[in-house]
Amino acid sequence: MSGMDVLEKIGELKSRKNAVILAHNYQVPEVQDAADFVGDSLELSRKAADLAAGVIVFCGVHFMAETAAILSPAKTVLLPEIEAGCPMADMINGRELRAWKARYPGLPVVCYVNTSAEVKAESDICCTSSNAVSVVNSLGVDELLFVPDKNLAAYVARETGKRIIGWDGYCYVHHRFTPLDIEEARRLHPKAEVWVHPECPLDVIALADKTLSTGKMVLEARTTSCREIVIGTEKGIIYRLAKENPSVTFYPARETALCVNMKKTTLAKVLRALETDTFRVAVPPDIADRARGAIQAMLRIS
Ligand code: 13P
Ligand code: SF4
Repeated sequence: MSGMDVLEKIGELKSRKNAVILAHNYQVPEVQDAADFVGDSLELSRKAADLAAGVIVFCGVHFMAETAAILSPAKTVLLPEIEAGCPMADMINGRELRAWKARYPGLPVVCYVNTSAEVKAESDICCTSSNAVSVVNSLGVDELLFVPDKNLAAYVARETGKRIIGWDGYCYVHHRFTPLDIEEARRLHPKAEVWVHPECPLDVIALADKTLSTGKMVLEARTTSCREIVIGTEKGIIYRLAKENPSVTFYPARETALCVNMKKTTLAKVLRALETDTFRVAVPPDIADRARGAIQAMLRIS
């Protein structure tokens, strides 16, 4: 089947099934182009909750589809590639969090959205990279637990001045950025600003001009007067940035910054998802109810 035929078939099935395609900013170009909405984790959670559609095809990784399923239990949420997980989200499970919490009685738990439903169910409030600082400030406490990303925890501690005890997790894509990458990028592109994601290590963040979630990079690129920007996050976002801002040149801070799991979804798999209603992501109601509390607490404050 040609690319056009696949798109046409996807369009037909979407209207027949009242389906909507959501895609994360790291998805491959053909998937971003076929999506009804492309965004960061926070934008996609909000969309999933607000949409009137009966079926959501979630082009991203498993925890994102799970978040959509938690917020919209009456909708069918499909993940086109069931193997698309997030290794960072897999670095802590519900049992481990329960045991860890028991060592710090009384401390609130903030979980990054990159966690399983089970971990969200054990947490007080969820956050994304867009709103982590406001979520932590909203708690009105000086000390808290944060799972699973130690880099995001360190960044939020720096920004808020709070004592944050972080789980020892990390994103292998962002953790690999080094100060040398930023120094080298500045040498190659002396006029460029450097924007990095808060999942990067703190010594990398310290050398950047801006620290932004992927959604905030998209927004900032629309208004910046800068004509050259070095991007320190998963390289897939550069497709969207370049498409929306043809007068700006974007350079990856690391050529090899690729999330293998984000690349597993293809247009052919989106079509298969719609044809076969696979892979359906559902969360057991008792876990979903508790996890929803943590996500809604976040949505209320951001
Ligand atoms: P955001 O798109 O929310 O910035 O998150 C990045 C990410 O790593 C998603 O897995
Ligand atoms: Fe997980 Fe990192 Fe991939 Fe995001 S980029 S899905 S945090 S492994």
